[in-house]
Amino acid sequence: MRIVVLASGRGSNLAALLAAQAAGQVPVSICAVISDKSDAGALAIARDAGIAVRVLNPAEFSDRARFDHAVFSAAAEFAPELIVCAGFMRVLGAAALAPWLGRIINIHPSLLPKYPGLHTHRRALKAGDRQQGASVHFVSAEVDGGPLIAQVAIDIHTGDTAAQLAERLLPREHALLIASIGLLANGRIRYHKGAVLHEGKLLESPLQLGDDNAWRTAHGD
Ligand code: GRF
Repeated sequence: MRIVVLASGRGSNLAALLAAQAAGQVPVSICAVISDKSDAGALAIARDAGIAVRVLNPAEFSDRARFDHAVFSAAAEFAPELIVCAGFMRVLGAAALAPWLGRIINIHPSLLPKYPGLHTHRRALKAGDRQQGASVHFVSAEVDGGPLIAQVAIDIHTGDTAAQLAERLLPREHALLIASIGLLANGRIRYHKGAVLHEGKLLESPLQLGDDNAWRTAHGD
């Protein structure tokens, strides 16, 4: 499966995906990395791996819609079957997104629908939650609001700080992204009219990645 990654930050998800690709863990080929930040760590990781990069500076576009279209045109050059937002900190508008619905996913560090947007760990701690996690979902025009594919959860310990939570979650987040992309690449998960099909059946609630990296459904099987 040909993949283009969109990233704004350090790129640990990208690095994990590249390692999984190199290890033959997922049948994917990462064709390009596109960023809105010229100093994103993700770009350095991509360059080191010999992957094409494109930088699009939002300040150089007269409005958001033009920027969004430029992102998708840049991605389209590489004919991806899937676009993966891995720490891409821009909201993509409905018009540009429309032709790509079902072919673009995002990873978000919370158990959506809880805590879309920023500062998810701080918010989970403040709410007194006992678990935090990460979610992979198809992207829609609603921020972190598209149909959920899969999640991974970790326990929150007494006295945890947001930084500790983020650090403990990160390796699980990487495992979730890789396993979710594996499901898409193998055709086990598909997008259908705003919903998710798992093995051809409507997925009522997101798949859960266990500590053993095996999938569980909400029904425990
Ligand atoms: C991750 O926590 C991701 O879920 C969030 O931004 C962070 C990006 O990390 N959206 P990285 O750039 O992949 O290291």
